[in-house]
Amino acid sequence: MPTIFVTGAGRGLGLEFVRQYAQAGWRVIGTVRGAAAAAELAALSAEAMTVDVSDMNEIKTLRSRLASERIDLLVCSAGISGRRGMALGSFDYAEWEKVLRVNLLGTAAVIEALVENVAASERRKIAVMSSRLGSISETRGMTLPYATSKAALNLLARGLAVQLAPRGILVVALHPGWVRTDMGGPAAPLAPEQSVRGLRTLLERVRPEDSGKFFAYDGSVVPW
Ligand SMILES: NC(=O)c1ccc[n+]([C@@H]2O[C@H](COP(=O)([O-])OP(=O)(O)OC[C@H]3O[C@@H](n4cnc5c(N)ncnc54)[C@H](OP(=O)(O)O)[C@@H]3O)[C@@H](O)[C@H]2O)c1
Repeated sequence: MPTIFVTGAGRGLGLEFVRQYAQAGWRVIGTVRGAAAAAELAALSAEAMTVDVSDMNEIKTLRSRLASERIDLLVCSAGISGRRGMALGSFDYAEWEKVLRVNLLGTAAVIEALVENVAASERRKIAVMSSRLGSISETRGMTLPYATSKAALNLLARGLAVQLAPRGILVVALHPGWVRTDMGGPAAPLAPEQSVRGLRTLLERVRPEDSGKFFAYDGSVVPW
């Protein structure tokens, strides 16, 4: 039975990853930050671990607790958008730093903590949940604190793809589409089920030559 490890599994896209992979018969481990979310995962036959990805002590504990486990697919979905409406003239630097700590440093720390678990698995895949807003070539200057965190995350994914290729580990950045979650809001056109269904198909299909690419949920390549 393959194993998936998902961060930010208590709600939104992370929870939908848990649902779909549990249903497909995978062993599922997800990070949460509260008892209610842990209970929700248990009800889906998934294992919950309490981790704040911006807390390096909790990441250290995660590494030691999972020391001998194999992780076929690591999906880093935990992320925040930061306070809405920040733009030139109203940047909140403390808030921006928080966004970078979760979206960029938190993701890097989780990958660093679990890379040996991935290396020990059969499938050896890592996916980071990025956003099209982080595309440098497509940017229209919207939500820059969030967008810069995702642009940096994209470089992290591409850089790690190069570094980890000799070990047979594949790394991709993902754009889930605009999805109806707490972050995406009720006006978003995509349901989480549809986005994650597309991402699952893509993650099943990706081959070593796809490592270091930025894919949307429908399988198309997003320009950097
Ligand atoms: N929804 C969209 O339209 C959209 C579009 C493009 C990209 N994305 C990306 O997709 C990913 C998932 O987004 P979503 O729509 O599912 O967002 P969401 O519904 O707001 O859920 C965010 C998830 O991240 C977790 N999280 C936040 N800060 C964390 C921290 N410090 N440590 C651990 N977990 C933390 C939350 O946990 P708690 O429940 O404990 O707060 C929650 O599980 C994000 O990286 C986001 O940037 C989403």
